[in-house]
Amino acid sequence: MRKQIVAGNWKMNCTIEEGQKLTSEVVQLVQDEVQNEAEVIFVPPFIHLISLNERLPFKDQVLIGAQNCHQNESGAFTGEISASMIKSCGGSHVIIGHSERREYFGESDALLAEKVNTVLKNELTPIFCCGERLESREINTQEAVVGEQVRNALFHLTPEEISKVVIAYEPVWAIGTGKTASAEQAQEMHAFIRQAIAEKYSTDVADSISILYGGSVKPENAKEIFSKPDVDGGLIGGASLKSRDFVDIVKAFD
Ligand code: 13P
Repeated sequence: MRKQIVAGNWKMNCTIEEGQKLTSEVVQLVQDEVQNEAEVIFVPPFIHLISLNERLPFKDQVLIGAQNCHQNESGAFTGEISASMIKSCGGSHVIIGHSERREYFGESDALLAEKVNTVLKNELTPIFCCGERLESREINTQEAVVGEQVRNALFHLTPEEISKVVIAYEPVWAIGTGKTASAEQAQEMHAFIRQAIAEKYSTDVADSISILYGGSVKPENAKEIFSKPDVDGGLIGGASLKSRDFVDIVKAFD
């Protein structure tokens, strides 16, 4: 059985006070209402990691992660954060290659491959993001684009290593736009990614990897998207900033 995961990417939102309030509310609602065992991962800005870690009463179901890290272990990289620092704050996951990092910070597939290596070396779980832009979807080249992103950043890994990666398919045109991919479009791409992994590695490896969908997931559409056989959960942006909505998305697995 693959892990079901709902991760909330807060992006650049929340002061410490706002983050603490949101976390306490989510934790309470998860404890009171959630019937399933899906992993819930908070992915706040770095400054929140320590205070969030102190607010997690049941650490096996609720975890924390970071939105990025540097590819080097340490050193003179002003303004950057390393994987070991994230780990020392109680983080277990790191998002790598979010489309906003690719677009606004020029992160290339080659750089992302290095970051994946560093995250794995520090015994953290990369949540590797891939996804096509609208132009690709319009000319039906989405599989070629996503296939290349996955191959370039992950296919140098050993079977043991890639089995530890979580993949998030986030079509760029669906992020923050209110335009969700249909459940069928999500399933189609997830199955394609899994098939590519099966061909390179094995069916066993491909079947062990959780693939999350991200892009305008809301309580109203989560159940349908998560019901697809190759969709193992979601990477949630805007709706993760509202405790009620975020927990209702987690409850889509009930
Ligand atoms: P939205 O849920 O706001 O569309 O963002 C998705 C996302 O980018 C999560 O990483």
